[in-house]
Amino acid sequence: MTVNDILRTDGFVDGRWVAADRRFPVVNPATGDVLAEVADADEDLAARAVQAAANAFPAWKAMTGKARSAVLRRWNDLILDATDDLARLMTLEQGKPLAESAGEVKYGASFIEWFAEEAKRVYGDVVPPHADGRRIVVLKEPVGVVGAVTPWNFPIAMITRKAGAALAAGCTFVVKPAEDTPLCGLALAELAQRAGLPPGVFNVVPTSTPAPVGKVLTTHPLVRKFTFTGSTAVGKTLLAQCASTVKKVSMELGGNAPFIVFDDADLDAAVQGAIASKYRNAGQTCVCANRMLVQSSVYESFVDRLAAEVERFKVGNGLDDGVTIGPLIHRKAADDVEALVKDAVASGARARVGGGRSDLGPTYFEPTVLTDVAPTMRVFSTEIFGPVAPVFAFDDEQEAIAMANNTPYGLAAYFYARDVGRVWRVMEGLEFGMVAVNDGLLSTEVAPFGGMKESGLGREGSRHGIEDYIEIKYGLFGGL
Ligand code: SIN
Repeated sequence: MTVNDILRTDGFVDGRWVAADRRFPVVNPATGDVLAEVADADEDLAARAVQAAANAFPAWKAMTGKARSAVLRRWNDLILDATDDLARLMTLEQGKPLAESAGEVKYGASFIEWFAEEAKRVYGDVVPPHADGRRIVVLKEPVGVVGAVTPWNFPIAMITRKAGAALAAGCTFVVKPAEDTPLCGLALAELAQRAGLPPGVFNVVPTSTPAPVGKVLTTHPLVRKFTFTGSTAVGKTLLAQCASTVKKVSMELGGNAPFIVFDDADLDAAVQGAIASKYRNAGQTCVCANRMLVQSSVYESFVDRLAAEVERFKVGNGLDDGVTIGPLIHRKAADDVEALVKDAVASGARARVGGGRSDLGPTYFEPTVLTDVAPTMRVFSTEIFGPVAPVFAFDDEQEAIAMANNTPYGLAAYFYARDVGRVWRVMEGLEFGMVAVNDGLLSTEVAPFGGMKESGLGREGSRHGIEDYIEIKYGLFGGL
């Protein structure tokens, strides 16, 4: 197989490839080259996709969980067989280094595999009745047509984490992939078709203008569930739009993850965790460590070790050997990161490593470590989405927890400590949906991914993930 074998540039609706009057360019962020011209879906095509999904729903819902599971398993296998080509395609359109892309393909497939297994285990309940002559059952049924809007930072995994759960539950699915990275979503559709997903069960509507297509997915009466991964600001708009038809919603929104290092931590392990958490995908994940909080007594020592590691990164085109940090998704992303760093430096921060644009091109930013930072700086309260680690100092446990929670976000948090009492106190004190203790990576299909506060609603992955695509129906049998 080659990349060309899975490269598709039309929309995918009702099991067919659909061209559009307009097309839009997909650009390689590493070089600025145009990779492909993709069909530009409008509201009409989005509405056609919703109708196709609604038409396909009764038959897909009626299949046994075991039968749906078998199709999903084939999809998983085909994705894994195509790992090398999907990874190459992902690096071309998204920029992350090839090894990270291959990791994402496997991570993405793991949600299809996981939910293929869960499809067989959507159990209802038989409830002891409240009165004589009655029986009570609780049935679990698929919600119906699901509309999804997914981001560019994980162009495969953020689709499969939603589609795997939705399809396993018996829902049908329409996704609008990010305009920067539609090719991975379209390649998934090609593999879904080869796996034997019936027409209309999985539809992809790429577009250069997200708002109108998003409006269809959030307001169309046939869409019963809407799921989004992206920024909190956009999520709030989409959530408000969903209110008009009272859809069920899942929202995976922004984060501002604290990464706390206490004085009893294994500092080498903490540095390795910080590298993994902060610089994965060039810092472009919602769960990236955003604020390093380090106890004053180990601050200098931690910064020295972190800086030494960051200096070893190789920045470049993700297709090139040995590159560990690719470009950011586009020039505007690099502009935003630069503005945050400049704001911090103007207020007294010091760039211990990096601190500016790379001379490789307009989308590249140097891996950066900032010291002498303060919570009053924008870099404390803003999701950085770039390879920049500001390192703040704190004196004691209470101050660390208060600083960590001092944000409207509540997605992921990390901390390094060894004292078992401290570990429990801090774990319980942090207002975040996911907390990693002595580890820098927490994403896996087996655990519930999701946030508290303004970081979102619902959970994805794990045995909880499928519940977001299920309606509960209570049945009362009287007169027995
Ligand atoms: C995200 O950044 O939205 C997802 C990150 C992950 O799944 O690890």
